[in-house]
Amino acid sequence: MVYVTRRTTFSASHRLFNPNWTDEKNQEVFDKCNNPNGHGHNYVLEVTVGGIPDPETGYVIDLKVLKNIIKEKIEKEVDHKHLNYDVDFLSGIIPTVENIVVAFWNILKESLTEQQKLIKLKLWETESNIAEYYGEDANITSYK
Ligand code: NI
Repeated sequence: MVYVTRRTTFSASHRLFNPNWTDEKNQEVFDKCNNPNGHGHNYVLEVTVGGIPDPETGYVIDLKVLKNIIKEKIEKEVDHKHLNYDVDFLSGIIPTVENIVVAFWNILKESLTEQQKLIKLKLWETESNIAEYYGEDANITSYK
């Protein structure tokens, strides 16, 4: 098995809050991230796909193809958007880096063939805050 990775960046804003909680509790738990009008991040996403290189092309996946899948399915949806309000697949979900990476997984998984196995997503929210997901045991829960 060989693993190939495509990296992309996007900018988006979000607000961390749970509408089922009081303002006080939201402030206590989410603090600065609960700023009512949101705040922005420059996100970095790495998508790793594994497979056996095709004998004719030498590719696990044509990275141009992977680039376009990420662009169409992810970037177009989230770049320069407010993640709480503008993105259908994040509706009702607290847009933490953890929840976002799981939502991305569910979308990308559908776009690959059986031979192109989605292995890992790594999402940087900041230089220091990163989530990784390997497709196991995480369900994102809607607050609705
Ligand atoms: Ni944030």
